[in-house]
Amino acid sequence: MQKILVARPIFPDVIERLKQYFDVDWNQGDVLPADELTRRIADKDGALTAGDPIGAAVLAAAPRLRVVSNMAVGYNNFDMAAFNASNVLGTNTPDVLNESTADFGWALMMAAARRIAESEHWLRAGQWQKWTYDGFLGSDLHGSTLGVIGMGRIGQALARRAKGFNMQVIYHNRSRVAPEIEADLNAQYVSKQDLLRRADHVVLVLPYTKENHHTIGAAELAMMKPTATLTNIARGGIVDDAALVEALRSKTIAAAGLDVFEGEPDLNPDLLSVPNIVLTPHIASATEATRRAMANLAADNLIAALGEGPRAGQPPNPINPEVIGKARS
Ligand code: DGY
Repeated sequence: MQKILVARPIFPDVIERLKQYFDVDWNQGDVLPADELTRRIADKDGALTAGDPIGAAVLAAAPRLRVVSNMAVGYNNFDMAAFNASNVLGTNTPDVLNESTADFGWALMMAAARRIAESEHWLRAGQWQKWTYDGFLGSDLHGSTLGVIGMGRIGQALARRAKGFNMQVIYHNRSRVAPEIEADLNAQYVSKQDLLRRADHVVLVLPYTKENHHTIGAAELAMMKPTATLTNIARGGIVDDAALVEALRSKTIAAAGLDVFEGEPDLNPDLLSVPNIVLTPHIASATEATRRAMANLAADNLIAALGEGPRAGQPPNPINPEVIGKARS
């Protein structure tokens, strides 16, 4: 029987599925430190990860390893150059999380714009004495301009929801989406600078790459309207968190919502003392149905990539399909 490592706690019934095909080493405890991950993956044919860093050293330590299946759509934890050099397949879990993640993007954006977390903390602290005409004035979503940076599948799901709020949608992306998608979403392609200057609510939905590091820093925040909000449901590192703290303190922008952070789960501690920000612990895809779908898709990828199950040899979501069938190097 082939051996696999499941590096994180996941739904036990998904582990039972995997056990039908594999000898499973399941980490049910804390995130594995690099040395333990390297030790436990060394004799495995495949692995299931969820954000665990997999680079050249880990791959070199595991000469039998043929596939690493990430339970996430983002795979910036994989060094894909090292995967390609070793002929190891990487897989991810796109699509099944689009709608839940888009819902959550709206929840964060609305919470930031309407100051929900800030006013709730104030209420819980016993500070509510009387209703006032100017208590926690926020900014409207309806009729405003939504700026989406990253118009992939989640960005499109997010933009589609803007119709119900009668919002104008502008977007920036590596490349323009097809004209029929633009027409369906009523979305206009603009430069990043134009988007930052015009949008009332900016949402980040782009993958993390070296090129996207600090896509939003001090200069970009300075271009935004003082009434604008910024929401990040993409990846930490896309926003310069220190620059964001400064921009929120100085009211360069009105408010922000962050679900992802540079160096998470460690946070820039200054974020915690800024009132006009909503902070959540990377839960945009966290609904029962969606996390189950992600876990099952990650298992499907692993089972098929290791030549088992109904799709043997044809994993649904290969990131680097060119290595399929090549000998491990
Ligand atoms: C993803 O799928 O990339 C989400 O951010 C969960 O990690």
